[in-house]
Amino acid sequence: MKSILHDAERLGLLAHAENLGPLLDRKEEEIHHRDRKGKRYLEILAALPEVKPSSCDLDQDQIRIGEKNDLTEEQHQSLTTALRQCMPWRKGPFRLFGVDINSEWVSWLKWDRLKNHIQPLQGRRILDIGSSNGYYMFRMAAANPAMILGLEPYLTFFFQHCLLNRYAALSDHYCLPVKLDELPLLEGFFDTIFCMGVLYHHRSPHDGLSRIRAMLRSDGELVLETLIMPGQEEIALSPRDRYGKMSNVYFIPTVPCLKNWLRHAGFRSLRCIDITPTTLMEQRRTDWVDTESLDDFLDPRDRLRTVEGYPAPVRAILLANKR
Ligand SMILES: C[S@@+](CC[C@H](N)C(=O)[O-])C[C@H]1O[C@@H](n2cnc3c(N)ncnc32)[C@H](O)[C@@H]1O
Repeated sequence: MKSILHDAERLGLLAHAENLGPLLDRKEEEIHHRDRKGKRYLEILAALPEVKPSSCDLDQDQIRIGEKNDLTEEQHQSLTTALRQCMPWRKGPFRLFGVDINSEWVSWLKWDRLKNHIQPLQGRRILDIGSSNGYYMFRMAAANPAMILGLEPYLTFFFQHCLLNRYAALSDHYCLPVKLDELPLLEGFFDTIFCMGVLYHHRSPHDGLSRIRAMLRSDGELVLETLIMPGQEEIALSPRDRYGKMSNVYFIPTVPCLKNWLRHAGFRSLRCIDITPTTLMEQRRTDWVDTESLDDFLDPRDRLRTVEGYPAPVRAILLANKR
């Protein structure tokens, strides 16, 4: 976790090390000493087979690290056990030393929707807010950026990324178990910021977007993907209780409303590049997910509605520039 501090000078982050240091100390202390889940994941990582993968292919729908033959039968068994202890695997798919992790989401579908629209990532400093297990960070890494920082506060997904990058061993590739609001304001630092599947979890989307804009360099690009409501009115749904059984969804705007939020935050050159309803082909239960999935979130009598009676999930991808 602290490698970003060791590399701070090279990364151009020295001015922020003073604020990052205490935050990372606090997170490390929590994980090592106070969080039972954190301690369990540290034990899982410590027991992983020590092996170097003979191959690493990040530029594929299914991210592949290592070959089955790189491991002994016994090592293969302990790796599989560790991977299953880190369930649920929401984003993917991955193949790790021959073990196919068939994740809940077919994540390449989203990547395919945006990859040809965004500024080329080579040489850029990237922030991925809500990076989960890093599926998209690995896809970004294939483009050879200057650095990638992921933020993932949920420990299961944070540790899935630690496990994967233990073997991929990418340099200038960091993930911190922190929320956007906890990260010191790295003003004007990033060239591209991805904020995908996160904005509806924000109580104050305006503040979140302003914070993101402040962290972009002057001609930097935001890649924003979020749930939307159908329609052209400038309005947002604020669910009474849950949306698709999620308890932490605060606002779901229409695209015109989302564009207003972006304008209010100061963004320019707004482009909506994709609107896609989420299907049971893209999000479904697999044997790597021990929880409910989209099928359980929709009304069994009307698949166009959530169980709460709201419009079923539709997602949009918007690009915006700082200026
Ligand atoms: C729906 S997932 C999206 C994951 C991935 N970005 C994608 O598009 O598939 C949302 C992720 O954001 C994380 N998250 C929630 N609130 C966050 C916050 N305030 N800052 C950073 N990440 C957050 C969650 O833990 C979760 O892993």
